[in-house]
Amino acid sequence: MRAIIGTRMLGLLQGDITKVQADAIVNAANSRLMGGGGVDGAIHDAAGTSVMDECARIGSCPTGKAVATKAGRLRARWIFHAVGPEWDDGNQGEADVLGATYQACLTLADEKGCETIAFPAISTGTYAFPLGPAAEVALDTVARHLEKGVTSVKTAVFVLYDHRAFDTFARVLSRLATERQWPVGDWDTP
Ligand code: APR
Repeated sequence: MRAIIGTRMLGLLQGDITKVQADAIVNAANSRLMGGGGVDGAIHDAAGTSVMDECARIGSCPTGKAVATKAGRLRARWIFHAVGPEWDDGNQGEADVLGATYQACLTLADEKGCETIAFPAISTGTYAFPLGPAAEVALDTVARHLEKGVTSVKTAVFVLYDHRAFDTFARVLSRLATERQWPVGDWDTP
């Protein structure tokens, strides 16, 4: 599924983000940049040890921010290691911090001149952010950036690992598209 936002595209795919080709692939990292399970483990496994070496040299990244490394064996120029918030009870600013995390990636994408960027559903695994609220924040933050037009990003895609995450993001994107009058369709629909 994809929505056209002005001259930009916001898409959803179901699958493994390590298989995707994009200028930048976003990782859901931890603040010590030490690697882990989930998408972090999958990205480091697929990218190779040079990426972990670069993370070790950088050392750390605060929650709500992102750092860039090269992408090793991934079909990308960059990996943006983004540190999302851990869900507590929803009243500790989690949504604002998640929005800031996505925005940090978009700012890096513009600094690097990226035209395509692929995101996982940051914080929705180990960090336990509920999928519905996470989809609202993720799609709204990225859409607002694309709507501004002054961005190098032409296509942003969310790569959702399982059916439940894909369906949740699709439901939220459909609603936003209706509200904001974005044309929607399949990837191969002109
Ligand atoms: N491709 C796309 N999405 C994936 C993949 C993959 N290969 N593997 C897992 N996911 C999905 C999960 O299903 C979840 O929806 O990524 C989303 C984020 O889950 P996590 O990877 O657990 O990330 P997060 O919740 O942000 O927790 C970060 O987990 O792995 C550790 O080091 C990481 O400590 C950090 C924490």
